[in-house]
Amino acid sequence: MPDITRRDFLKMLNGAGALLGLGVVATPVVAYFYPARLEEMPSEPALVCAEAELPIGESKTVKFGRYPAIIVHLEEGLKAYSAVCTHFACLVKWNPEAVRLECPCHDGYFSPSDGSVVAGPPPAPLTPLVAEVVDGQVYVKVGES
Ligand code: FES
Repeated sequence: MPDITRRDFLKMLNGAGALLGLGVVATPVVAYFYPARLEEMPSEPALVCAEAELPIGESKTVKFGRYPAIIVHLEEGLKAYSAVCTHFACLVKWNPEAVRLECPCHDGYFSPSDGSVVAGPPPAPLTPLVAEVVDGQVYVKVGES
């Protein structure tokens, strides 16, 4: 086994740290330039939950292919979007007190009614999906509402 000096060990540790840092920076940049596209989403509907488990004012985030989807039950009905922020691909969350979808990474805010950007740096609205109720079960899918 070769002798490794403390200096060599620290150099390797420094290199590993630099690679990790590069990955942390590069991942959201890549996600920004290659955002989720509708054609990459599953063609089949995904089960969200029973209708009774999603009362007005509540939301659910579920796995939908490679990307999560967020379903919000508003007074006006069920709304569904890709949960991936269009800025740097953080996950948006539902804030029922403020009645908006929020991205915690850089304070991006979206309208729950149409996914449009209300404030912050996101360059585009959330990708719309369709939420529907079939036999008392809520499903999310790609398509027209
Ligand atoms: S990643 Fe959502 S606001 Fe920046």
